[in-house]
Amino acid sequence: MANDNKYYYILTYGCQMNEHDSEKLAGMLEKMNYRSTDKPEKADIILLNTCMIRENAELSLYGKVGSFKHLKEKKSDLVLGVCGCMMQTDKARSEIIKKYPYVNLVFGTHNIEQLPAFIDRLEEEKRVIEVLDSDKGCIPELPVKREDDHKAWVSIIKGCNNFCTYCIVPYVRGRERSRQAEDIINEVCELVKQGVIEITLLGQNVNSYGKDLSEDIDFADLLKMLDNIDELKRIRYMTSHPRDFTDKLVEVIANTNKVCEHFHLPVQSGSTKILNKMNRGYTRKEYLNLIDKIKENIPEASITTDFIVGFPGETEEDFADTISLAKRIRFDMAFTFIYSIRPDTKAGKMKEQVPDDIKNARLQELMAVQNKISMEQNSKFSNQTVKVLIDGESKNNPETYSGRTRTNKLVIVPRNDDILGKIVNVKINEVQSWTLYGEVI
Ligand code: 5AD
Ligand code: SF4
Repeated sequence: MANDNKYYYILTYGCQMNEHDSEKLAGMLEKMNYRSTDKPEKADIILLNTCMIRENAELSLYGKVGSFKHLKEKKSDLVLGVCGCMMQTDKARSEIIKKYPYVNLVFGTHNIEQLPAFIDRLEEEKRVIEVLDSDKGCIPELPVKREDDHKAWVSIIKGCNNFCTYCIVPYVRGRERSRQAEDIINEVCELVKQGVIEITLLGQNVNSYGKDLSEDIDFADLLKMLDNIDELKRIRYMTSHPRDFTDKLVEVIANTNKVCEHFHLPVQSGSTKILNKMNRGYTRKEYLNLIDKIKENIPEASITTDFIVGFPGETEEDFADTISLAKRIRFDMAFTFIYSIRPDTKAGKMKEQVPDDIKNARLQELMAVQNKISMEQNSKFSNQTVKVLIDGESKNNPETYSGRTRTNKLVIVPRNDDILGKIVNVKINEVQSWTLYGEVI
């Protein structure tokens, strides 16, 4: 085959949605007989799948593109492509096109299925630039090269209609489009046949699932249908919006077997005034009520969140509300972000931007509070036995394997090839804020 000795290298920035898009890009390239490499200098195709959510993701991308210039000089027919969220904005796209003339392929989030056609065109054309404002209405079914054998991401809804005032996602990923339930179920059944036992349903706002379909179906209904698939052991989902987390959904999660007891519910701020300015659609009180309801119905639930500090107009008092909310809820874990101005968003134009030194100090304070709480939450697992799905080599130490509990706690155990992809009992003997350590029993 023509591409038998050709290699591709994909670098992915950002969220799981991007990771999954990269699995589809890889799937298409494998179908064209390209093989994967982790060495960019060996590659015939390099793709950078970009993220726009905060400024630092954007800045590091430019540095990376610069670092590939010498590869293009050495290999003139190298395909150097930049795709993903950044390419959906005029400014970042023209920056790439003008300042990096050796980038010869640019496409966006709405036309990844055209990658094979773009590669063909590059045989004749010097440069291919094609970005669409929206996709063609239906989500194309694409081949996927999965990272894992036993767990998989499954996309259920794309885009977001919420327009939180700080967020660029609705501008780069478009409006909400749900996938047909039948296609989702078929994909999961196929995955299960191949040995997958855990799926994560993906979408910017999974709770909106079904609202745009003619079929009368919502996210809770979809979970119930998936729960019936024999052999599937665990169902996860991300991300859910606290505003759309209905009583029905809490009830369904409490009463199904496979949906994991982990709730990632980004709160962003503990101040109702700031939540309003963010256009989040809930108050502090409503968020607290939701968490109480979850804890009442599913006492073993773990709850994690995202916080943004330094949103425009955030006073000391507003920030104190965030700290008190963190202390009141006692999240198992939280991702904490400094507010980053995103082009064309409402909050980017708000007057009362918070100075960087104050944002940094607030981040440090919140992280210190949360780390302590996370450590206390994890301490409860000392000497306990937990069920862990073993994923593979842990990130920092090849001598150990890592896996997750149903509540999404990261657990490290000594390396043992017999347990790969299996759910095993682990006795915990050491805990840290983000990690549990133990031995398989
Ligand atoms: N600045 C900082 N954090 C942001 N997030 C989204 N947009 C911004 C921004 N402009 C965070 C939110 C969201 C997570 C995925 O990223 O906390 O939940
Ligand atoms: Fe962004 Fe809000 Fe949509 Fe999440 S819900 S992707 S934060 S606009």
